[in-house]
Amino acid sequence: MSVIRIEDIAHVRYAAPDLAAMRAFLDDFGMDTFESGGRLYGKGSDGRPFVHVTEPGEPRFLAVGLRAETLADLERLAEHEGRSLEDLAEPGGGKILRLTDPDGYGVEVVAGQAKDNPGACPADLPRNSAAARPRLRAPVRLDPAPSHVRRIGHAVLKVRDFRASEKWYKDRFGFLTSDQVEAAENVPLGAFMRCDRGSRPADHHTLFLAQLPGEPGILHAAFEVLNLDDLMLGHQHLKRKKRDAAWGVGRHIMGSQIFDYWRDPFGNELEHWTDGDLFTADDPPSIMPMRALLDVQWGAPHPMFAGKLAPPPGLISFITALQLRVKRLFQRTSKESLA
Ligand SMILES: [Fe+2]
Repeated sequence: MSVIRIEDIAHVRYAAPDLAAMRAFLDDFGMDTFESGGRLYGKGSDGRPFVHVTEPGEPRFLAVGLRAETLADLERLAEHEGRSLEDLAEPGGGKILRLTDPDGYGVEVVAGQAKDNPGACPADLPRNSAAARPRLRAPVRLDPAPSHVRRIGHAVLKVRDFRASEKWYKDRFGFLTSDQVEAAENVPLGAFMRCDRGSRPADHHTLFLAQLPGEPGILHAAFEVLNLDDLMLGHQHLKRKKRDAAWGVGRHIMGSQIFDYWRDPFGNELEHWTDGDLFTADDPPSIMPMRALLDVQWGAPHPMFAGKLAPPPGLISFITALQLRVKRLFQRTSKESLA
């Protein structure tokens, strides 16, 4: 039983030395941006006060924000941690509990933020297909423009010890595993985890913890856009603006979403996504092979493979599994020698 069941991801927080450069990128990416109290904020159209924060400073990832369902939940968590709640002195107000996860990432748990009415989502255009032809005497005429970010969906964190991080997040926030990813049988490298909302549907993943080679850091944060046309028009717009494309467009396997990744001027990856999977607490976890992380159902191949002869996925999985096994053996040995 976890201390609380988190409702959703709330925001991601970065530091960057040039707020104007970040703002120009976020405008192209399709957020509403504004500055307040010396910080830059990006928001979607879901009525939440912000989904992306940039503070002045050397470029780095600062924290992931999670939203507790109630202030009472946040108080319970604060008591469990032996910490006090603070007033959240940012747009929307509310309360905040600042935690640090096993890799030193800031985890900002918030509750009681003021919320505006969500903006209206324009209706999807009718689509003709072989099965149905609802679009009659109505040509499609679209122009490239920034996508319309609706909300934040998930963050992907690289961790040093997947099992330790998984326990830390699940014990406190009640995350459920949607897919555990294995480099080889019984060699897990991470898991896509969703919020436990009981019978109410939740995104396939709100947090993905991945123990991959290299130093910890955020791999990306992801934002839902209106629909496929909105994502593609945004892609065209970012391309015209000569922004730095990272990976896309394609359809992922785990989560099933149509994705498009871009880098901000400071190297942070942000994802546009649409049409992702939704599950309830009744849906059981799956175990998936590592190649399902790198493969797509359709679309752009992973940048590791772009323009090259892709190495067999089995070889990549084998090398990753070997690295993880050696690392875990070393961790066990050093823990035993400390005992
Ligand atoms: Fe993603």
